[in-house]
Amino acid sequence: MQNKIDTILVLNFGGQYCHLISRRIRERNVYSEIVPHDISPKEIEALKEKFNVKGIILSGGPASVYGQNTLKIDPRILEDDMPIMGLCYGHQILAQVVKGKVESAAYKEFGIAQVIIDKPVGVLEGLSGKEKVWMSHSDTVYSLPDDFEVLAHTNNCPIAAFRHKHRNIYGLQWHPEVIHTENGAKMLHNFIFNVCKCDANWQMEDIVEKIVQEIKTKADNEKTIIGLSGGIDSSVATALAARALNEKLTAVYVDHGFMREGETEAIQETFSKFKINFIIIQAKERFIKKLEGITEPEHKRKIIGEEFIRVFEEEAIKADAQYLIQGTIYPDIIESGASKNSANIKSHHNVGGLPEKIKFKKIIEPLRELYKDEVRKIAKMLNLPNELVNRQPFPGPGLAVRTIGPITEEKIRTVKHSDKIVREEIENAGLAETLWQYFTVITDTKATGVKGDARAYGYVVAIRAVESREAMTASFAKIPYEVLEKISTRITNEIPEVTHVVYDITHKPPATIEWE
Ligand code: XMP
Repeated sequence: MQNKIDTILVLNFGGQYCHLISRRIRERNVYSEIVPHDISPKEIEALKEKFNVKGIILSGGPASVYGQNTLKIDPRILEDDMPIMGLCYGHQILAQVVKGKVESAAYKEFGIAQVIIDKPVGVLEGLSGKEKVWMSHSDTVYSLPDDFEVLAHTNNCPIAAFRHKHRNIYGLQWHPEVIHTENGAKMLHNFIFNVCKCDANWQMEDIVEKIVQEIKTKADNEKTIIGLSGGIDSSVATALAARALNEKLTAVYVDHGFMREGETEAIQETFSKFKINFIIIQAKERFIKKLEGITEPEHKRKIIGEEFIRVFEEEAIKADAQYLIQGTIYPDIIESGASKNSANIKSHHNVGGLPEKIKFKKIIEPLRELYKDEVRKIAKMLNLPNELVNRQPFPGPGLAVRTIGPITEEKIRTVKHSDKIVREEIENAGLAETLWQYFTVITDTKATGVKGDARAYGYVVAIRAVESREAMTASFAKIPYEVLEKISTRITNEIPEVTHVVYDITHKPPATIEWE
């Protein structure tokens, strides 16, 4: 069949970077599909009906190959002549399946490591003697059968990369998909184009059509509700769902009272032009009431997640809809621990924050495989307004997760006002384009100050500004002191309740971007 696209399958062992592998492949205009780690040869054959499967990558994962919760591959997939590359845990599981020796490492390696390339061939072609790579492993491959050769080692890891002497089977102990691996892009390029011989015959536009079709099928072409927050993810999901369902779609924007200043008006302006049913629900009172006295961040997130769903259910009854679409993207899922075998970092309101009982026939998440910048690309393709495409991400629970401790009207007013000041000053300084997010957090701490010669006792507000590529990691931004000074002066002058302003200088990890 002429128009089947070249595809690389990524077997998912639950590693934090699994989807990053797939995304790195798509960046090179080759399609990639993530599949369960224990996919059978028969299931791969079925996929070949749809795609021109040219190679397989085994992702990393938190398990140990000889622990109790070992995740296996079906060894029969090695019988095919399909090129295979294992990364990190994938490297170890491959070694184990071919009867190599994998054991707990004497020295574990986490972070940047130097590898010595012994043979710059195949996946490692064109690389120099020493390479900086990103490693994160507790187990190590110590030996392999004779028909394998070692391609690289480190001081602590005798087989950091290997290949089969006559077949396209490769293992790399490190993560080429992570930007900290200096020549990771070259390694992936070698695998995709030289080893698997893929043609770059996929483009982002193809995904738009695929998603529109998927929405049509999953929603049975029936009346459907979509939760629209006005952020880029739900806006793109709405634009795609509008294409799939037209007037069968009702977009519900819930103003829970924790939105940024001017947000509701901006959303109304954009979406009232769409040919869909667009409803704004004023729900401030009910959200504030439910959150009274709640301080624990996960508890807050769960309450907000549940309340969102209850509002959607009520609107669904009015609209006679049984399906709910959400703009969940991949990092929301991985952080909520909803990807099999990954840990819960925080419950994103639209994933881990969902209540157990939901009165919808189905929840459809058409963007669940994508990262934010891919969503932005789709937004551009769909000609969504520039101010929406470039909008900084905003969490569904809004300012509620930027208000530490009990939520009060006064604290919300303060965080809203200080957020507006930060936005204005960052934009005036021409820094907006370089930052992933910039906002304020109102802490649960009060501190003494002096205002107009009198003692003041007020809130401590924190400024958070980060640079990031896909929110999985982030660095605090080195904003010029003059800009910080201007922000601090404005906040303390314009908001009488604030006496101190601090700047958050923590990267992610170990912090997260939002404080709660
Ligand atoms: P963290 O704080 O986990 O955030 O480093 C990563 C990115 O996700 C955004 N975020 C959310 N987005 N619902 C969302 O739609 C949520 O519940 C949520 N929590 C965090 C956050 O702003 C950052 O860009």
